Amino acid sequence: MYNHQSKPNYGIDAPGTIRYFFLIGVMLTIAGWFVPSFSILGIKISFIGSMFCVMALVPIALGTSMLVYSIRGKFNIRDRMLDLIDWKGDENVLDIGTGRGLLMIGAAKRLKTGKAIGIDIWNAVDLSGNFIENTFKNVELEGVKDKVEIKHQDVRQMSFTDNSFDVIFSLLCLHNIEDKEERALAYCEIARVLKSGGTALIADYTNITEYAKALAQVGLKVEKPKSYLLQAYGLMWMVIATKDVS
Ligand SMILES: C[S@@+](CC[C@H](N)C(=O)[O-])C[C@H]1O[C@@H](n2cnc3c(N)ncnc32)[C@H](O)[C@@H]1O
Repeated sequence: MYNHQSKPNYGIDAPGTIRYFFLIGVMLTIAGWFVPSFSILGIKISFIGSMFCVMALVPIALGTSMLVYSIRGKFNIRDRMLDLIDWKGDENVLDIGTGRGLLMIGAAKRLKTGKAIGIDIWNAVDLSGNFIENTFKNVELEGVKDKVEIKHQDVRQMSFTDNSFDVIFSLLCLHNIEDKEERALAYCEIARVLKSGGTALIADYTNITEYAKALAQVGLKVEKPKSYLLQAYGLMWMVIATKDVS
């Protein structure tokens, strides 16, 4: 469980899904090789095998894109998200679904007196090596121990008081809440803990229109979601929401 790593490691997102895509791809390719050609009414049918092989390209491409995202794309997305904030250095930052600390640590590196808090429930299926111990290890290796706090918390029910954070990040987290009504709890919580004048940046590969609409409904000012497909090497959209100064 505990990873004796000497370099920061932010894991592979949805490793089970990647394995599944590659497995389906390999199975289709093998099936393609073994499907014999046959004749119907004297017409030789020999394209079925090739069809399987072509079909195999779809899961293989999806698996490859997800893998490349984890190896390269997510660091591009992290940097994009961090660059969208006009840092002063004294911000209180929340990273929702921090996993192994990607955005929490990235934010901490831009802080002087501020603090970055990462919350998660450390679901093993969502990220490889997704254990709180590995998040602590990354924090240590990145030298940001004095600027971060790590908490085991569900986004749907956060312990923070209202108006706590200047900046909220969430990368590839909210889609993991499968039920729409449950996701609605998360939007309310995000709006509640965001400070007046604060900014929330939510990036995900799906549901982004829902996030935009829902965040507007809970009182935030929401920009039109943007695609970050090229930077992520796969599906990725981001919504930026701000809370008016009251
Ligand atoms: C795909 S990982 C992404 C981790 C990290 N943001 C990154 O980009 O490396 C999604 C994370 O969301 C967390 N998560 C899922 N549901 C959550 C919830 N209801 N509250 C808090 N975190 C959650 C998972 O445990 C996992 O660490």
